[in-house]
Amino acid sequence: MSDARQTAHDAAPRTGRCPYHVPGRAQADPCMDYLHLSDDEPVRWDEDLGVWLVTGFREVTELLRHPSLSAAWPEHGRTRLHTPAESGSESGDGSRTSELVRKWFMFNDDPAHAGARKIVAPLFSAERLAAARPVVEKLVDELLAPERDVLDVMEDLAVPLSSRVICHILGLPDDVAPRLAVWAPDIAALLVADYLPEVVTRGYRALHEVTAAVDDALRGEVPEGSGLWLLGEAHRRGEIGLQDVWATASLLIYAGFETTSTFIGKAVRAALHAGAWEDVVKAGPDAAVEELLRFDTSVQQVARFATAPVDVAGHRIAAGDLVLIMLGAANRSPAVFDDPDHLTPGREIRRHLTFGFGAHYCLGAGLARLETEVVLRRLGARWDVVEEAAAPVTRSHYGLTVLEHLKVRGGTRN
Ligand code: HEM
Repeated sequence: MSDARQTAHDAAPRTGRCPYHVPGRAQADPCMDYLHLSDDEPVRWDEDLGVWLVTGFREVTELLRHPSLSAAWPEHGRTRLHTPAESGSESGDGSRTSELVRKWFMFNDDPAHAGARKIVAPLFSAERLAAARPVVEKLVDELLAPERDVLDVMEDLAVPLSSRVICHILGLPDDVAPRLAVWAPDIAALLVADYLPEVVTRGYRALHEVTAAVDDALRGEVPEGSGLWLLGEAHRRGEIGLQDVWATASLLIYAGFETTSTFIGKAVRAALHAGAWEDVVKAGPDAAVEELLRFDTSVQQVARFATAPVDVAGHRIAAGDLVLIMLGAANRSPAVFDDPDHLTPGREIRRHLTFGFGAHYCLGAGLARLETEVVLRRLGARWDVVEEAAAPVTRSHYGLTVLEHLKVRGGTRN
């Protein structure tokens, strides 16, 4: 195991549990354990979990565009890896999962997926990203303005930045932004543990509050061209119902907020742990961001369900099987990347799988890159050297390992 991988492992959370894991199996950050599987056995059946794990780069790209692998929620829900007995809950098989979340286009196949995605896709065009740049720069400058000895990259910078950016693109007022930090984890929990009564209560409350904030905003004047404006117009034209407006708004909040804030933190943490801060600055944020995305993504895996038998890498996936596609592991494939466990800012990367592949390729990839690049550029302009001021604090967020605190101290050489 390389130093970089060991360091990443050490920094991973000690508590909490990933839904894709067998209770009792000791793991810090479960997804980290899959990194080394990449080319040894690119597709495997995990007996304990009862799922297929796909870690090979080629197999991941093949399966993410396979017509018999569905992103849609099967009738039994997404939570079959936990049984009620295991959780101590009497209730549920996933059937109580919110209908709103089932409407998310991320969890639907074409044509429903494409129809809903198309409505908000203009938010992420090249022109819109160019227009977002000064907004992001201003926000980062404001957040970095107070003089501090120690900067908490998450609390002081990444969390307020990414929540404000989501509000900006959706057309929600700025004062909604702090509420995203409550909504996002509660909705995420609902996605994987909707047999637990307290998770259902909190998750539904969060979704209800999102819909109320959307309704409030739509009662006023939402900025023309914003996400709510696009959704409101589609609703007015009779193309979608109000449920769809709420669904896509809550999807953008869920998909765009903690994914990005955590990635910004992970990027800084990876550079520090690998002793590569100067290399990041030297390589330039654009090139560095791609390697940082490859090296340690915030979305380690995505799930698919087989709707018909699928033959891959000498295995037959049966209809109805759950397939976990391990993006982070595929990004460490030695067949594709030289010395893959080494963080090499400036490495030329033709393709990585951090934002997925195929029809569900991340809609917000450009925005996530922009936010991270601006943060690295601004921090790099201030600091030649950065050190950790305290051990990072992480929270297991079911599929995602969220960084809550990353305290750093920066300075110049002279
Ligand atoms: C989809 C990763 C930031 C919006 C995805 C997928 C991945 C991903 C892996 C594919 C899901 C699948 O195939 O099932 C990330 C990472 C981010 C990030 C690592 C940050 C570093 C964002 C941002 C937004 C966003 C900033 C929007 C504001 C979406 C949406 C989808 C998606 C709407 C669903 C696309 C579809 O189903 O067609 N993201 N994402 N993401 N992402 Fe991101």
